[in-house]
Amino acid sequence: MTWKQHFTSSVGKKLVMAFTGLFLISFLLIHVYLNAQIFLPDGKEKFLAGAHFMGTNALTRILELGLVAGFLLHIIQGLMLWNQNSKRRSNGRYAVKAGNATSKWYSRSMGLLGTLVLLFLIMHTAQFWIPNRVHQFSTGDEINLYDKMKDVFQNPIIVGLYIIGCISLSFHLVHGFYSAFQTLGMGTKKYKPIIRSIGIAFSIIVPLIFALMPIAFYCQWIG
Ligand code: HEM
Repeated sequence: MTWKQHFTSSVGKKLVMAFTGLFLISFLLIHVYLNAQIFLPDGKEKFLAGAHFMGTNALTRILELGLVAGFLLHIIQGLMLWNQNSKRRSNGRYAVKAGNATSKWYSRSMGLLGTLVLLFLIMHTAQFWIPNRVHQFSTGDEINLYDKMKDVFQNPIIVGLYIIGCISLSFHLVHGFYSAFQTLGMGTKKYKPIIRSIGIAFSIIVPLIFALMPIAFYCQWIG
């Protein structure tokens, strides 16, 4: 298989989706861990210390480039797979819709759920990451991200959009988590139940903690 075919064959596309997906899942774990500091006593100081560390050291700057590349590859390959599957369906290659009887709606809607997560991500980076980097470049200082969150999450529409984003992420992860391991050959009879259970727990707990952040600021459980 040539390098080009690694990216363009069906198996190649699925492998890219699996590797980038697992990379993004590890990013989510770090992100939720750092942000969840806001729920602890002295949460503001703890969160700001973590955000300062992440925002100012060279290693995380380099990892950030990897993150952008990971997101872009995952999105581009995902759209190509989505397009390929829709074409097959419209060509009648999946004429007998037996899949519908066995697969869940969210497994068949990965493209749609991924697009909702992408829309969420565009809004999210425009609210936090972009203003913070622009501020850092122009003044050398970071924005106080805790106060920024408190401010952004006073708007109930934004809070609602974050909740929709987190629900979309949850369903996207339920299928994506297991599917990534399956692509990598680990969905065997022995490991399937363990991977499924860890995947479902991750897909519920992580988006739930994320969703509680805007809710907590809006309801003034934290301040
Ligand atoms: C719902 C609760 C969430 C809150 C309160 C939150 C908060 C934040 C904040 C304050 C930053 C700015 C970091 C900085 O400027 O250094 C950030 C960055 C980011 N967030 Fe979130 N986030 C949430 C959920 C998510 C989710 C669900 C995703 C992914 C699906 C996500 C993806 C990102 C990305 C990609 C960045 C840029 C990371 C970087 O610094 O390179 N966030 N988030």
